[in-house]
Amino acid sequence: MNLFNYFSAYIRRSCTILAIGSIFTIFSCQATIPPFVVRHLGDGHSIVQLKTNNKYLLLPIEEAAPEARVNVTQNQNSVSTHQVRLAINNIDYYVPLDLTGFDISALAINVENAPDSALCWRSFELVNEFDTQNRESHRPVYHFAPLYGWMNDPNGMVYKDGIYHLFYQYNPYGSMWGNMHWGHATSTDLINWEHQPVAISPDDLGTIFSGSSVVDKNNTSGFGKDAIVAFYTSAGERQTQSVAYSTDNGKSFTKYEGNPILTSEAPDFRDPKVIWHEATKKWIMILAVGQEMQFFTSSNLKDWTYESSFGEGHGAHGGVWECPDLIEVPIEGTNDKEWVLLCNINPGGPFGGSATQYFIGDFDGKTFTNQSPELTKWMDYGKDHYATVTWSNAPDNRHIAIAWMSNWQYANQVPTQQFRSANSIPRDLTLVNDNGNIILKSAPSPEVEKLRGEAPKARSFKVNKDYNIDKLLDNNTGLFEIVMTIRNKDAEFIGFRLFNQQGEEVDFCYNLVEGNFSMDRSKSGEVSFSEDFPIATLAPIGKNDEISLRIFADKSSLELFVNDGEYVMTNLVFPSSPYNRASFYAKGGSYEVTSFKVYPLELK
Ligand code: FRU
Repeated sequence: MNLFNYFSAYIRRSCTILAIGSIFTIFSCQATIPPFVVRHLGDGHSIVQLKTNNKYLLLPIEEAAPEARVNVTQNQNSVSTHQVRLAINNIDYYVPLDLTGFDISALAINVENAPDSALCWRSFELVNEFDTQNRESHRPVYHFAPLYGWMNDPNGMVYKDGIYHLFYQYNPYGSMWGNMHWGHATSTDLINWEHQPVAISPDDLGTIFSGSSVVDKNNTSGFGKDAIVAFYTSAGERQTQSVAYSTDNGKSFTKYEGNPILTSEAPDFRDPKVIWHEATKKWIMILAVGQEMQFFTSSNLKDWTYESSFGEGHGAHGGVWECPDLIEVPIEGTNDKEWVLLCNINPGGPFGGSATQYFIGDFDGKTFTNQSPELTKWMDYGKDHYATVTWSNAPDNRHIAIAWMSNWQYANQVPTQQFRSANSIPRDLTLVNDNGNIILKSAPSPEVEKLRGEAPKARSFKVNKDYNIDKLLDNNTGLFEIVMTIRNKDAEFIGFRLFNQQGEEVDFCYNLVEGNFSMDRSKSGEVSFSEDFPIATLAPIGKNDEISLRIFADKSSLELFVNDGEYVMTNLVFPSSPYNRASFYAKGGSYEVTSFKVYPLELK
């Protein structure tokens, strides 16, 4: 049965609906040509044909709807296919389908798996501009988030000619996971990000999963001197590894004709991280394969030889290992260095779901040897720190990491819509010797201090029982950094909470009996979207007479750095207004806050 609907957003406003039986509906209009025609072919299959030239077709999205298959065709040949939650009963928001470069008369959008009665057929819009202004109160300001759509892992981070490139797992067709592309943004200071066009889009080999990039300074690949060479997982029927290169500083990428460059029978075979190993003068690729990391070597970035696997019997194994990184990091205060293998794991994190563990040891160009096989080490003790990787080719031998600030347990449900997910602030990694135990320290990158405005004078106070601060800042926008040092006298519990006028609060507690530090967000604001969200997280910081804390607040996150990053805790929070008050308490004794300062933060 063929049914025809003629409509448009503009026409909807100026039309009279003539219902002709139940077979089809025509909008009788003052305007002459309807901008598109929809033909329903039965079985949830429809074809949309556009009649006017516009830059974008806006697709109405309903997050609760199942994914429809949207196949963009030109002259009846498929150009691209996207899984889109086209609105059936309600519209949550719109996403744009870019029509640039198409011959409209030969363009048809073939949709499968969307019922004829769906709301979308009456709700497409043809426009020349897509409004990306964000009006959501939880949109972060100084953390990178996509303009619209979904983001997960940071990918392919590389520094070249003064510019930090950040690529990321991106769905431009909705704010839930799917249709993985590599989004792209650039920055000169790791704080102010410029959104760039999508860098790598899905193809016949699959969607574009996580990976890394390098600068090929000596043209070992033949793609060009100083080409940015990107490695990603092509996620098709199987996961395989592919390469794309850019000879125009990341503006455009060409996929290598020999893709895929690595295949496997393993169902989880992904997230290539490529580094240069100076001692053996070889490229190394580390791949996450099930619950282990595999190491490959190459001289030309195209042909890879398997060398070894690492994982069995080491660290946490509550889920698959993903997004590896391998860096050689100096130990503070010494001339020594150790290799650090970053290993993201999901699920199986210390507080459920996703987390980043790491191993310290030796790497000889072929094999990684773990120095302390008996220990499981976590990089961050919050719930929202995942897919952490570092910038390739960073200046001054820095190891700069960022994490995706979410958790697969609820990433698709967090209470934002136009966009979903942000990254952590950038962190500089070093190693420190903590009483014989070498730990990976993640300090806020120095660039973050550029965000600071003028702070009210630092104060100091003793806490015998309790102490209140009625106002953190005069005009608290929700963006601030608390810097404080605490000296214990004889307290067993050092506690403080940040709260707002709605009574939403985050509780911090240093338990000196157990030697751990906790952040409890169970009453932090909106928490009901997932039962895995309201929780306290805990870091084993040990028993110290003195500690320093830095807490970074943005619209929907708190990042806590103990002793400038020896222990870190990254947690999302969704308060209905900024936490602008603090109250301290002591149990079992007293302590002193020797310095307490609050900086307002803003992008400059
Ligand atoms: C980690 C991950 C990666 C994969 C990507 C897909 O969050 O599962 O292993 O490449 O996300 O988006």
